[in-house]
Amino acid sequence: MPSPHPSGPGSDLFLGIDLGTSELKTLLLDEQGRVLRGASAPLSLQQARPGWSEQDPRAWWQACVDCLDRLCADGFGARVRSIGLSGQMHGAVLLDSARELIRPAMLWNDTRSEPQCEQLRQGLDGFEGLAGNLAMPGFTAPKLLWLRQHAARDFERVDLVLLPKDYLRLMLSGEAATDASDASGTLWLDIGRRDWSPALVQAGGMRREQLPAVLEASAPAGTLRRELARRWSMPAGVVIAAGAGDNAAAAVGTGATAPGQGFVSLGTSGVVFVATDRYEPDPSSALHSFCHALPRTWHQMSVMLSAAECLRWVTRLSGQPDEAHALAGAARLDETQRAGAPLFLPYLGGERTPHNDARARALFHGLGHEHDAAALAWSVIEGVSFGLRDGLSCMPATLRERVGVLDLVGGGARSELWAQLLADVLETPLRVRADAAGGAAVGAARLGALAAGLPRDQVLRAPGGAERMFEPDPARRELLRERHARFRALYAACR
Ligand code: XUL
Repeated sequence: MPSPHPSGPGSDLFLGIDLGTSELKTLLLDEQGRVLRGASAPLSLQQARPGWSEQDPRAWWQACVDCLDRLCADGFGARVRSIGLSGQMHGAVLLDSARELIRPAMLWNDTRSEPQCEQLRQGLDGFEGLAGNLAMPGFTAPKLLWLRQHAARDFERVDLVLLPKDYLRLMLSGEAATDASDASGTLWLDIGRRDWSPALVQAGGMRREQLPAVLEASAPAGTLRRELARRWSMPAGVVIAAGAGDNAAAAVGTGATAPGQGFVSLGTSGVVFVATDRYEPDPSSALHSFCHALPRTWHQMSVMLSAAECLRWVTRLSGQPDEAHALAGAARLDETQRAGAPLFLPYLGGERTPHNDARARALFHGLGHEHDAAALAWSVIEGVSFGLRDGLSCMPATLRERVGVLDLVGGGARSELWAQLLADVLETPLRVRADAAGGAAVGAARLGALAAGLPRDQVLRAPGGAERMFEPDPARRELLRERHARFRALYAACR
């Protein structure tokens, strides 16, 4: 965000908050769009039963307060002009009429509501055509149907359903609101019209009054409560933007807003995201067709439920101290060892794109005496990369042809080994920017800057700063294509 005013001790700052699954990140952007400082706090996941995945929204709020206490110290709070929110999508935060939480939030990777997806399909003719997306258990609507059937008392108390980042807004401002990109993941939205669909809301057993207003991501949606402004020494009336789902926010952060621009995310989930200028749903595939975070823009997205999460899992399983050690081991394997590594299906908790199969599970195939922890780590990052290739393949050919370079974001972007392997597997050049790990929080801060009235062409520039390109290596193409074909056949055989 270039500014005619030099960034000095008194210049404005834009606060971005990204509520991830494994951590909450906050940062301050200056008027030049540079990250001035950041603070993050870890979050844990409760998986009490197979297929369940929950978090207590109070832990999100505690993490947010902890981060902002640190971030706004030393006089930085006084310069904050706006706040933008981004967060994990789809989660159901259930509140009663006193705005008390009814139970923990069921998250995007919770697959318990698979039977309810079938009920949605059966209950309304052409449901998936209207929703523009397959009914998948990670989405919000089937979660509410599950609640109605399995915890009727809780369901009766539901007065308001919020998405995860929107719960933070409620706590920050007292306002209930959401935005079109995040609301796209509920199966209650008319994605072409960018507002709730009465037919879909009704099919999900819900009432319109239980849902917040849907705004554009860059619209103002509340101001910071006075007591919080005092706590963080912020000026009165700091505006809070509607914000966006984490993937749309990451796209805003990397500058992916024009058709064909996009990114790959190696976070807890794995995402291939490409922006479009029209709504072109394909409800026959498990590709997601959602609103983007700018008016009159949309995106197509493939989503894997476990991406960097698979690496975390194998690191723990093989007794490595951390992911960096596991990856360093994999980096030492020679080409022959890589070619002979087991194949890994990355479906630890089911899969969305391309299979929409909540019951798919992970698998190592071809283990031998010769394989050690390093070989397993390699197999895992290769298997996740193959899953992302499957996601990219689901995109319509007309859109894929427009894709040139993709940005790589998320925690996995810190690994050069994985970035190169992914470029080789996707046969697409990948760009890693200096702040790749914090993409969604940058996007959130940018949406806040728009809500504060900064002009769009100043705010939405591609981020400057250092970047590294990873070009596909043609020498590896044949082997990877052959292993990918076996990976595909393996799922088909095990299904
Ligand atoms: C998107 C999705 C995930 C979460 C994770 O559909 O479910 O990417 O947003 O943060």
